[in-house]
Amino acid sequence: MAIPNLQVALDQSSLSDALGTVQKVGEEVDIIEAGTILCLAEGMQAVKCLRALYPDKIIVADTKCADAGSTVAENCRAAGADWMTAICSATLPTMKKAAEEISELQVELYGNWTYQDAEDWLEAGISQAVYHQSRDALLAGETWGEKDLTRVKRLAEMGFRVSVTGGLEIDTLPLFQDVEVFTFIAGRSITEATDPQMAARKMKQTIREIFGASS
Ligand code: 5RP
Repeated sequence: MAIPNLQVALDQSSLSDALGTVQKVGEEVDIIEAGTILCLAEGMQAVKCLRALYPDKIIVADTKCADAGSTVAENCRAAGADWMTAICSATLPTMKKAAEEISELQVELYGNWTYQDAEDWLEAGISQAVYHQSRDALLAGETWGEKDLTRVKRLAEMGFRVSVTGGLEIDTLPLFQDVEVFTFIAGRSITEATDPQMAARKMKQTIREIFGASS
């Protein structure tokens, strides 16, 4: 099993706060995400700044695009994003149009979706999925559990590279030890830590320990 990546989600509402954080953690993580909140608050300027600061990292624009796939993806690519996200309830034409304009499109799984939808995404050439526990669901008392692990495993078996996200903490990671996770996406547990650099470093080290690499 490959060692999962670590992605930091920058969900601040101001670009200056996000840039202050990313300068502490950017070198510790594999992938940097302009989070949905940041994209909505600051637009593609946030992606442009991340690309300028980290020319060699994978940059994700977490747009959760629902429509106008082509235009949104073109804007993300022009700003420097490698990948972007579309919400799972977007139509297949929206996803296909977006996928034509960006290196990779990730489908964000929230709420209602089916394995038939997933087959359709694969058939359209979309092979990255983000399995999400929404922050509102977590606030309402949801937790990561067996049902989530079963879904992530099934998606991986179908051929998806599956990222997982939503309130992840170092203590949550061992839950996934038998699951093929492509990327752990962590926001607040890194960005709101007293020492974000140390938080990211520890998370990366824990991933290595759980998934079998010694350094
Ligand atoms: C919210 C998101 C977040 O970026 C993602 O869930 C990670 O944030 P956190 O670890 O703080 O829950 O996509 O829509």
